[in-house]
Amino acid sequence: MKEPILELREVYKRVGEEHILRGINLTIYKGEFVALVGPSGSGKSSLLYIMGLLDSPSEGEVLFQGEKVDFRKEEKLSFLRNVRIGFVFQFHYLIPELSLLENVMLPALKRGMKQREAKEKALYLLEKLGLKGKEHRKPYQVSGGEQQRTAIARALINDPSLLLADEPTGNLDSTNTSVVMDIFRRINAEGTTVVMVTHEMELVQKVGRVVEMKDGRLVPFPYDGS
Ligand SMILES: Nc1ncnc2c1ncn2[C@@H]1O[C@H](COP(=O)(O)OP(=O)(O)O)[C@@H](O)[C@H]1O
Ligand SMILES: [Mg+2]
Repeated sequence: MKEPILELREVYKRVGEEHILRGINLTIYKGEFVALVGPSGSGKSSLLYIMGLLDSPSEGEVLFQGEKVDFRKEEKLSFLRNVRIGFVFQFHYLIPELSLLENVMLPALKRGMKQREAKEKALYLLEKLGLKGKEHRKPYQVSGGEQQRTAIARALINDPSLLLADEPTGNLDSTNTSVVMDIFRRINAEGTTVVMVTHEMELVQKVGRVVEMKDGRLVPFPYDGS
């Protein structure tokens, strides 16, 4: 049976005079791999930020694992953001002073994991993402693709049930794009629900469902994976 992990109901986002999201109704089911597509400026990032509970809607509801999200409860929100949801940005936002290993460990330490356990887990993830031997380098000492894979490892350290990625391959060459894409598919096959914003149509064909945006709305797509 399809069980929702995230539900958006009549979600609107306004910033000043700008209507950025205009009534979004969207359900993401456990185990899905969804691609969010649409032209630049259509609201994809804004929607993903709300899905990741990084921003609040002006109107409407968000339900995470069946529970209505209260955007005023900062403590609960940061728990969900840190532990239940992983977020990969187009620009990796790694901390430049920290090694790859330390960057990946950070969200685990924040939630109270023991240093040693966090290190072990971070090393495991870095190895899984093909970064063995580079753990102690700083972000500027590795390639763009390696930085992005580090950011993915960081997003995975707390075993999120939902992984959100905003154009994670937007700055990568085609080789690194396929490496990163294969990683997302593997993560999804292992049970994590994935929502990925992308421009690249050839990537879209590799996912389960495509959701298209236009002018702050979802448009019907001929192929809905059901
Ligand atoms: N904080 C903001 N203030 C004002 N306008 C914004 C803000 N964030 C996004 N927008 C506008 O909202 C629209 C959608 O932006 P965005 O969600 O980034 O689209 P996409 O990711 O699809 O390119 C754009 O017109 C953008 O200029
Ligand atoms: Mg965007």
